[in-house]
Amino acid sequence: MDKTTIHNVEVIDIPKIIDQKRRGNLCVIENDVLPYNAERIYYLFDVPSDASRGGHSHIACHEFLVALSGSFDVIVNDGERSKTITLNKPDKGLLIVDGIWRELDNFSSGAVCLVLASDKYNEADYIRDYQDFISVKMG
Ligand code: TYD
Repeated sequence: MDKTTIHNVEVIDIPKIIDQKRRGNLCVIENDVLPYNAERIYYLFDVPSDASRGGHSHIACHEFLVALSGSFDVIVNDGERSKTITLNKPDKGLLIVDGIWRELDNFSSGAVCLVLASDKYNEADYIRDYQDFISVKMG
């Protein structure tokens, strides 16, 4: 995880099937969209607008975040640089590779954040202390 940077964090278009009979859109994530197969799916909802989620990095796990509904901001940080990405479209997702500190805030009313994770839940894969994160990144 020590070599990844925010340049490895990218917005990915999710293939969208536009219905010819105007029945709405359908997005599908198969194994050609992400560089891993999802081992775990979870989602955040009913997040108060003044709440902040995340506040950690992963040692090995990659995550793909999609605003299924509403919007929120994702601040990613590699220990040297940070950037903020607003997710507000269900046909775009943010790939956050391992070794990136992330915080999620500014959730709109009704926002739902879907997460496709590369690994099963494992608390040992988390770094939840920012100074510990910086120490690991600085090697
Ligand atoms: P937390 O990592 O604080 O959530 P977020 O990063 O979205 O702010 O997780 C909240 C709680 O849920 C914590 O006790 C760990 C637990 N949890 C699981 O049991 N399984 C999971 O897959 C996730 C993501 C969290």
